[in-house]
Order: sequence, then C-alpha cells, then structure tokens
Amino acid sequence: MFSRRLDWRAAANPVARALETRRPVYDLTASNPTQCGLHYDRELLRAFEQPGALVYEPDARGLGSARDALGLGPCSLLASSTSEVYSWLFKLLCDPGDEILVPRPSYPLFEFLAGLESVRVKQYSLRYSEGWWLDFDSLRTGLTDRTRAILFVHPNNPTGQFLKTVELDELAALCSERNLALISDEVFLDYPLRDDPARCATLGDNGQCLTFVFGGLSKTAGLPQMKAAWVTASGPGSEEAARALELIADTYLSVSTPVQHALPMLLRHGMEVRGQIRERTRENLAALLASGLRPLDVEGGWYATIATPREWTEDEWIVRLLDLHGVLVQPGYFYDFESDGWLVLSLLTEPRVFRTGAAAIAKELAR
Ligand SMILES: Cc1ncc(COP(=O)(O)O)c(C=O)c1O
Repeated sequence: MFSRRLDWRAAANPVARALETRRPVYDLTASNPTQCGLHYDRELLRAFEQPGALVYEPDARGLGSARDALGLGPCSLLASSTSEVYSWLFKLLCDPGDEILVPRPSYPLFEFLAGLESVRVKQYSLRYSEGWWLDFDSLRTGLTDRTRAILFVHPNNPTGQFLKTVELDELAALCSERNLALISDEVFLDYPLRDDPARCATLGDNGQCLTFVFGGLSKTAGLPQMKAAWVTASGPGSEEAARALELIADTYLSVSTPVQHALPMLLRHGMEVRGQIRERTRENLAALLASGLRPLDVEGGWYATIATPREWTEDEWIVRLLDLHGVLVQPGYFYDFESDGWLVLSLLTEPRVFRTGAAAIAKELAR
C-alpha cells in the first residue's frame, strides 16, 4: 500500500527494546536544548507580540526584517528547519535515483531525508588517527555518473570535526571538476570547543563550486521548536540556484509569519542561550577528560565519542550500563561508525548528570 521510498517496517533496535522496560537515571543522550536545564528567559515570548504577525503577506525567500536580522544576501532563503533545507536541495539537485555523497560517521537522518526525495545516499569515510580527517580516496571511489552533490557537516555530528582549509581546497576543486554541488550543514558552527587556525571558517566562501551553506535557530539559539532555518547559495550558478529554490519554497510557503517577525528578538535572546550551551559543552568535556575516560579528539559540536573494550558489542555495553548504573548513552552504530566499539555521549547533558554518568562508565569500562 505504501511507496518504496523507505522501509516503513524497520524493527526496533536492542537499545529501544531495553528502554521499553527500563528508565535511565543518568541520560547522557540529551540533544534537545529545551529539556536539559538551560535557562530560557520568558521575555523571549514577547518576540511574538508583533502586530505584523496578524497579516499574511508571504515572501518565498522570507520577510525582509527576518532576512536583515540574519544579514542574508540575495541568494539566501528562510526555511522552517534545516531538515526542510535538505529536502529542498535534494529536490533542486536530484532526479529520482540520483546520488548524494555523505560522510560516515555522521548525522543519522541523511538516509531518511534523501529517501523521502527518492535520492540515494552513498557514504565516504571520515577517518581517525589522533584527529579526524576526510578520506579523499573513499570519496573518489564513491563517485558515479549519478552523483549530484557532496555533503559535509561542519563541524560534524558526532565527531566534532571541522573541515580544514587544505581539505576544502581539494573538495571544492573536485566538485568544480565533476560539476557537483557542495552542501555544507553548519548548524553547529557556533560551538567550537577550541580554536584552530587550520580549519576553514565556512565552506561557503570557496568560490570554486556551487555551494549551499545552512544553519538554523535550532542550534544557533537553542530553539528547535521555533522552526526557522536559512540557506545561502554561493559560487558559480548561485543566482540561478536561488531562483529555483525560491520556486520550491513558494510551492509550500512553510515558514510561519509569527516566527519571521519574532526572529530579530529570538536571535538576540538566543545569544544568551548559545553562551550557556558553549559553557556547558566545555565544562562537560573537561569533566569527561577528568573522569579517566579518553574521548576521541573533538573540536566542536555537542557530542563526544569514547571507545569500548571489544569483549561486548555496543548494544551489550549500553544495556549493561543501563542495568547496572542507570546510565544511557548512544551506540556508535546510530551514526554509522565503520567498526563496532564506540559510545557517543551528549555534552549538552546537565553537568551533574553528566559527571555521575561519566564516572559510572569509566568504572564499568575499567573492570
Ligand atoms: C547535523 C545536523 N543537521 C541538522 C539538524 C536538524 O536541525 P533542524 O532542527 O533545523 O531540522 C541536526 C539536529 O540534530 C543535526 O545534528
């Protein structure tokens, strides 16, 4: 009865099954900023008391006041979420059956976002030795005559890796040579955990290939429920691309008028929330290092990864941590790590919960 876009009958994994009968006491998977003890000033709600919100005067690229608050140029559009931006870009760049190259390990939603647009994802590898780097051999191996774009998450989720300037040069040259678009998800850009002059500021200023960069309120202001995001096209063909995106956006007009009027104030209040998140991720990373666990090097974002001894699988470790200590973490396979033996911890977790959870994991792993 249903389309073949996705496997709608996917079975529950062992972690989901374990959670049917047990409740974690120390949940180190928190990724929803509105539910992990951050302070949100009630003043934020006043952002919605705008008379303009009572008038419907849609603009497919987004209202001028919202665009100005974000400093968006002519080749940018507002969207209701970055997930929506993905769907627009896949519609714009791909016919059914075309392919997008995505990193692994990375954000688990690509396959679903692409599948819903009848687009196939092929993965290229991010590798780790002392730090994360992009494996260009695996990227080139994945290219076919149906590849339409290469995607990178800057910094990546969950590895926290920023693309380096030398890597961007090579990536943009490859896209230009093969006539591919470059897509850069920069939702975590505001959250570096340290500085590094080798990293590129954004993938959007490479000038060599058609590039789409996007971000959103969800991470920048810790306000996922407000549903506003933005995308900017740059490089050769960007004006034409922005016109085509406008047509797609115009078909749905999905960004609500109230949130667009509220955007300037939400961004101002969001700076305060962003500050709290920065402080928290740094504090939790320091606590993780002090716990005796040795996370993989993480440059930015909201997550940290630790290795497990190989005597048990990721699922077995997780169920064990849940049963013995009430601690919940995510398995590496959620993010498609190439091998078993990884646990992912959210640095957004409330610090007391994080410290206790990390100490319990350290104890269990050392046994
Ligand atoms: C890398 C990445 N991109 C996009 C999103 C989704 O953001 P939005 O709420 O704007 O759809 C997430 C959410 O966690 C994410 O991790």
